[in-house]
Amino acid sequence: MTLLRLSIQNFRNLQAVDLEPSPQVNLFFGENGSGKTSLLEAIHCLTLGRSFRSHKHKPLIRQGESAFTVFGRISSSGVQVPLGVERHLDGQSTFKANGVQVSSLAELASYLPIQVINADSFQLLEGSPKVRRQFMDWLVFHVEPQFFTTWKGVQRCLKHRNSLLRRDRIDGPELAVWDRELARLSHSLDQYRQRSIEHFKSAFLELLASFIRLPGVDISYQRGWDRERDYEDVLKTNFDRDSQQGYTHSGCHRADLRITVNGQPAAEILSRGQQKLVVCALKVAQGHVFGNLTGHQCVYLVDDLPAELDQVHRSRLVDWLERLGGQVFITGVERDALVADWQERPHLARKVFHVEQGAVKVVEDTSSAATE
Ligand SMILES: Nc1ncnc2c1ncn2[C@@H]1O[C@H](COP(=O)(O)OP(=O)(O)O)[C@@H](O)[C@H]1O
Ligand SMILES: [Mg+2]
Repeated sequence: MTLLRLSIQNFRNLQAVDLEPSPQVNLFFGENGSGKTSLLEAIHCLTLGRSFRSHKHKPLIRQGESAFTVFGRISSSGVQVPLGVERHLDGQSTFKANGVQVSSLAELASYLPIQVINADSFQLLEGSPKVRRQFMDWLVFHVEPQFFTTWKGVQRCLKHRNSLLRRDRIDGPELAVWDRELARLSHSLDQYRQRSIEHFKSAFLELLASFIRLPGVDISYQRGWDRERDYEDVLKTNFDRDSQQGYTHSGCHRADLRITVNGQPAAEILSRGQQKLVVCALKVAQGHVFGNLTGHQCVYLVDDLPAELDQVHRSRLVDWLERLGGQVFITGVERDALVADWQERPHLARKVFHVEQGAVKVVEDTSSAATE
């Protein structure tokens, strides 16, 4: 899946940007505050409806303007699909694919799967389980067709169950109905996650080993309740505690991906630099498994790469990205550092863009030479 055309209006400091990205490598350089991260955010908004920096859309609208628009034309299995997102200050939003309003943001997300690597990615190891659940569910969402409806069903059941638990007098039979439905859906969700993680784990460990010598690293999926026990049974056992506190303690909403080194949490053992490499391996492994299972490639947005990794590891990450074969958008302040990582790869179609005060222009284009 490739972004062939990107057109942005009034998004942060980007007043009017119109690009035809290379289907392979796109490098954006420019001084701090020029609009590089904003450009990646705009791509993210195009397929997810929101930025990776903020869940709010108002800060994304250029000051003094009432709305932003991002338009893109993507290609997937030889078919071109126009996508468009428009968000207004008053909260009104339009999300379109093929000229038609999409029914949900999940539908939009399926058109152009995106992976982001930026400074926040390093939260993956030290952040809350929610960050890792979202990470794991990205893959499950894209490879298990029933995942999203099941996930929504689980959320609905949990909401009902929690509101019943908060009542003064709990209606036992009604709670039992929700428990049964919650257990049925949670079982399916757990199966989807387990299947994806199985594929993911071996890809991750293999990639990591090719990146850095780090013995003892392991990754394990925790489903959110005792793996030896039936979930409905767990709900019954936990009833007193759940009703005292007014929420459901165990379940898929508490699932986690434990990343450890010799049994200890990776975040407590590894150096900052090692953590970054582990996170890069996690992100690339997802793209790899996604590619194997779907036959498509996801798009990588890598923000300020030279600031995050040293030259040796940057070059290794670039190797991985090249092997994945998908489209990449990478930013950095210095042109030379950014381009140097790709210099030895003349066979790749590369475009280099200069970002200056919200304007973006192509300064180098090897895409026609590379594809000749
Ligand atoms: N809503 C907005 N309207 C106008 N400018 C904005 C808005 N939000 C952020 N900016 C400005 O956009 C500029 C670009 O930011 P950013 O994309 O983070 O730059 P870079 O990644 O190149 O360092 C910053 O100077 C920031 O102050
Ligand atoms: Mg930036």
